Amino acid sequence: MNKQNTRRNTTTLPTARSAALKLLGLVLRGHLTVDSQFSSVIAGLEPRDVAFVKHLVSTTLRQLIFIDKFLDRYIKRPPPAKVEDVLRLGVAQILFLDTAPHAAVDTSVRLLKNFRRSAYTGLVNAVLRKVVADKNLAKSASDEKIITTPEWLYKGWVGSYGKDIAAEISASHLTEAPVDITVKHVSAIAGWAKKLSATVLPSGSLRIAKAGMVPDLTGFKAGEWWVQDAAAALPAKILMQHIAGFGNDCKVLDLCSAPGGKTMQLSALGVSVVSLDKSPSRLMRLKENLERTSLSASLVEADIFKWSPVTCFNAILLDAPCSATGTIRRHPDLPYLKTRNDIKQSAKLQLAMIEQAIDFLIPGGILIYSVCSLESEEGPSIGLKILEGTNLVPATIDTTALGVPSSWLDDTGALRTLPSYWAEFGGLDGFYIAAFKKPHD
Ligand SMILES: C[S@@+](CC[C@H](N)C(=O)[O-])C[C@H]1O[C@@H](n2cnc3c(N)ncnc32)[C@H](O)[C@@H]1O
Repeated sequence: MNKQNTRRNTTTLPTARSAALKLLGLVLRGHLTVDSQFSSVIAGLEPRDVAFVKHLVSTTLRQLIFIDKFLDRYIKRPPPAKVEDVLRLGVAQILFLDTAPHAAVDTSVRLLKNFRRSAYTGLVNAVLRKVVADKNLAKSASDEKIITTPEWLYKGWVGSYGKDIAAEISASHLTEAPVDITVKHVSAIAGWAKKLSATVLPSGSLRIAKAGMVPDLTGFKAGEWWVQDAAAALPAKILMQHIAGFGNDCKVLDLCSAPGGKTMQLSALGVSVVSLDKSPSRLMRLKENLERTSLSASLVEADIFKWSPVTCFNAILLDAPCSATGTIRRHPDLPYLKTRNDIKQSAKLQLAMIEQAIDFLIPGGILIYSVCSLESEEGPSIGLKILEGTNLVPATIDTTALGVPSSWLDDTGALRTLPSYWAEFGGLDGFYIAAFKKPHD
């Protein structure tokens, strides 16, 4: 780290670090998401400190298991939770961030004094100094092949994908996800790739390696594109593969639609979309997104279990609420917030939603079901239950047209993406996407 950065960190970090400490505690013991608490903890901080808080807390959560293992070498009995968090943040800075070692140690000690934990300053000082001295012993969890996913979650992945792939998935969560975008006009993809210095992925999404502040990027305010992971863009593309035969009167329902990535895709392709979600605040974001991109949809604020349409739909996209474990690269707090029971509850809800959606479809209609989850209970098990327990039949997914390998299809013809896939491009979110048809009978 250069001198200028060291000076900057030393003068501004105590406040940024107190915010990071508070946020880490809110996640690990308050069981609250980073996203829900972030704006309140960073209130009053300079923009550069805001970025530091985000980076420090994300890195600490990504590497938490590794950091705790490393700390075990130096600590016999665990100190109080807040002191332990100060140590974790200190180790994250020493091993994974550019913070000058002496700044990481000094500011950690100062943090304790702020929080009236002066009795532990000696311990923290001594431990962090040892970590600085032993830095070369612990370069990174991936070098040491340490699994940095809590066991309850990791075990499920080993069961679903085998040990090697589960380890690859876990390792992929150590790196922050790149920013992917969907361009409004398909014909303009190459032009936007050039303007944004982005890579065009085989599926047609653009990937920006260093996005910085997204709203400042060219074309964002003009509504020429929106942020959407390459995997998240696939369900709407799969739906488009099935609706050509329905003609100009084709009516599509985007159930669970907010904040609207998929609604925007469908609208941009000229589809008439009814876009339903039960959350007023998320629906407001969807409205703003449509306004920014000059796209349109008919918005419905409703709970799908209390709603019935006037006429049925040719096609429905159900991007159901789920554990979101396919997005841990973007949300490293998730493994510490979710439980196996949450996954069970989500799965139950998804099945009920699909059963409800079937009634909204015309005979011959298409249902696309997607979840950004890696858990077998949510995607594949629900897919099987639908095939066994309802009259829906599988509809094909054309992987060549999507630009993805056919090996991503499972035995039932559903598409599975994993964060460890497309490693050469920087991965993609984990999704399960299945297409079904309602028979005419
Ligand atoms: C995975 S998100 C949808 C993301 C969205 N499809 C997109 O691409 O931007 C799931 C959504 O389901 C909505 N939701 C959850 N339960 C619902 C219900 N019973 N009725 C309607 N919407 C519901 C949530 O408000 C949330 O916006």
